[in-house]
Amino acid sequence: MSSSHMNIITVIGSGLIGRSWAMVFVSGGYSVKIYDNQPGQAAKAIAEIRKQLEELEEAHMLRGELTATQQLALISSYNDLTQALEGAFFVQECVFEQLEVKQSVFQEIEHLVGKDVILSSSTSCLVPSNVFSKVQNKSRCLVSHPVNPPYYVKLVELVPHPETAATVMDATHSLMTKVGQAPVCLKKEIDGFALNRVQAAIIAESWRLVQDGVISVKDIDLVMSEGLGMRYAFIGPMETMHLNAPAGLEDYMKRYGEGITRVLNSFGPVPNFSGGEAAKSIVNEMCELIPSEAQHLSARMERRDQLLMGLAKLKKEH
Ligand SMILES: NC(=O)c1ccc[n+]([C@@H]2O[C@H](COP(=O)([O-])OP(=O)(O)OC[C@H]3O[C@@H](n4cnc5c(N)ncnc54)[C@H](O)[C@@H]3O)[C@@H](O)[C@H]2O)c1
Ligand SMILES: *[C@@H]1O[C@H](CO)[C@@H](O)[C@H](O)[C@H]1NC(C)=O
Ligand SMILES: *[C@@H]1O[C@H](CO)[C@@H](O)[C@H](O)[C@H]1NC(C)=O
Repeated sequence: MSSSHMNIITVIGSGLIGRSWAMVFVSGGYSVKIYDNQPGQAAKAIAEIRKQLEELEEAHMLRGELTATQQLALISSYNDLTQALEGAFFVQECVFEQLEVKQSVFQEIEHLVGKDVILSSSTSCLVPSNVFSKVQNKSRCLVSHPVNPPYYVKLVELVPHPETAATVMDATHSLMTKVGQAPVCLKKEIDGFALNRVQAAIIAESWRLVQDGVISVKDIDLVMSEGLGMRYAFIGPMETMHLNAPAGLEDYMKRYGEGITRVLNSFGPVPNFSGGEAAKSIVNEMCELIPSEAQHLSARMERRDQLLMGLAKLKKEH
């Protein structure tokens, strides 16, 4: 493979996540070829990306060294998969979250690319051994799971198939770092990866506390946004513990380990999130705070993205 080819990335699927990946990759100076099996969809995606890049430039939030115009010039759209894959060294799949769809997409892609091309899936909920079960050479396959919106939330979970080559993990880690994302490597696959497992634990206990009449929906959200979340934007749970006792983590566990174990043992069973009056009443309480009609939700989404933008800026400065 000639080195001139090491700058083309193909994005398969041009929905929310495909568009975001395209923006992230061009911010790092890569050429991005977008393919979607809905004719015209990839071209529409570019129009949407143009709008976003211009807005970001206006707000001085554009990532990378290039101008919005220069970044846009790096993106092209395709209705033909073979053409879209030509010259790529890395493929990021962003199609519907359906196992059969992903399996057949990768099966098809494998026959259209050279043997060293890395095949990467954006899946949030499917494990690599299922996603890549129809690929012959699984050593080049991995999941690169982004967090929405990837432009501001930079974490990417790299999850190997049991057969994924270490060099493929390393090359993807370098690529993600180069384009300004924050990659983490899982050492083996597991349902939910790391982020969604931690998130599920938080969701379950929050739900239980509201359901058991301990706290309101509004206040449990404040526990996170005004409490734990303040430091979690900068330091994780491990460093938090390490810094919360005079002699570090071991000391912390001597002091608080027993209490944490006692609390953990009092956790109830997995809540029934869609069962009966309890669930209904939690949903109602949430909807009284923020009605679930589209205009209310999209206003809050906009606020969330603005705040994330500000936080991303703050993190960049520190
Ligand atoms: N939305 C999120 O918050 C989020 C976060 C992390 C990961 N993901 C993952 O990213 C992937 C994409 O999610 P999304 O939210 O962008 O979905 P989406 O529905 O917005 O976009 C999917 C796109 O894929 C196209 N597509 C479907 N089948 C195709 C095929 N066979 N070939 C080519 N294109 C095809 C569709 O036309 C559509 O444009 C999913 O696997 C999802 O789990 C999503
Ligand atoms: C399988 O993929 C790896 C990693 O990309 C590559 O080095 C190897 O040559 C491939 N093997 C075959 C038989 O294509
Ligand atoms: C949750 O509750 C609903 C309604 O009571 C019930 O139909 C459903 O089977 C329950 N689900 C689980 C997983 O217990």
